[in-house]
Amino acid sequence: MALVTTKEMFEKSMKEGFAIGAFNINNLEILQGIVDAAAECNSPVILQASSSAIKYARINYLMKMVQAATEQYPNIPIVIHLDHGPDFETAKMCIDNGFTSVMIDASKYDFEENVQLTKQVVDYAHAHGVPVEAELGKLAGVEDEVNVANSDAMYTDPAQAEEFVAKTGCDSLAIAIGTSHGAYKFKGEPHLRFDILKQVKARIPNTPIVLHGASTVVPELLEQCNKYGAEIPGAKGVPDELLHQASLSGVSKINVDTDLRLAMTAGIRKYFVENPSVFDPRKYCGEARDLIKETVKHKMIDVFGSANKAF
Ligand code: G3H
Ligand code: 13P
Ligand code: ZN
Repeated sequence: MALVTTKEMFEKSMKEGFAIGAFNINNLEILQGIVDAAAECNSPVILQASSSAIKYARINYLMKMVQAATEQYPNIPIVIHLDHGPDFETAKMCIDNGFTSVMIDASKYDFEENVQLTKQVVDYAHAHGVPVEAELGKLAGVEDEVNVANSDAMYTDPAQAEEFVAKTGCDSLAIAIGTSHGAYKFKGEPHLRFDILKQVKARIPNTPIVLHGASTVVPELLEQCNKYGAEIPGAKGVPDELLHQASLSGVSKINVDTDLRLAMTAGIRKYFVENPSVFDPRKYCGEARDLIKETVKHKMIDVFGSANKAF
């Protein structure tokens, strides 16, 4: 199948009440681990590249690899999406190179500036048949939550979300309900503001909602990393149950990068320790690729509900 757009994917996920996993790609093994999992699960999948991933892997290499995946798996709907597009030029470059979805992340600006930049990207993207994800609200790190009085201000305001979508014409919206990027998401008990999600859904029922910072920080992967020499103490992510609840509560896209980084690292670290005399990259990268595949399969089957939803 040729690449599809997120618009086609979200039509199905919104109607049937499940979420699509959006997995960050940086290299061949990560990409293959993800699409092999999607094929085994018969699941639609969003591959996403950040601007730093594009700088690292180079856009033409990324596009050729994604193209190869669509050829290998013609029955699996695949999107290639720009993650956290920082400016108009990056979004335009991705659209011009064949990306089938882009994000413009102007959430660090004030509301009016966010609207303006998002609208500029929407106008260009829509003229080229490409849907746009935007972001409203701040994904705080644990440090930011120290000041509880301020923490409410970081969540997405449902009324603003309605105004933002009306003003920008964006196709999907990333909201802040308590997740954050990276491996240290919570100090205490993990908690998401499902009340805010519900209010947002009530105001913009037809806009697919995106959850960033949604890695589980899979305990087994963390343990494997630390057992084989890593030092990642006290990391904590969003438990599967909360993500599952999100997928049933109107979240259409769930972003995962940290768990793939942990899987890659856990696979390579274990292999190095257990096979100190081996120096063939295909061996340790192969181990990492397998672990990425298993990690993604678990999410598609047990958490997001996207298995057997290929169309
Ligand atoms: O949300 C950010 C993603 O994890 C991408 O991170 O910019 O280091 O590629 P990156
Ligand atoms: P994690 O750091 O939780 O994997 O979030 C990834 C993400 O939001 C990519 O946009
Ligand atoms: Zn993100």
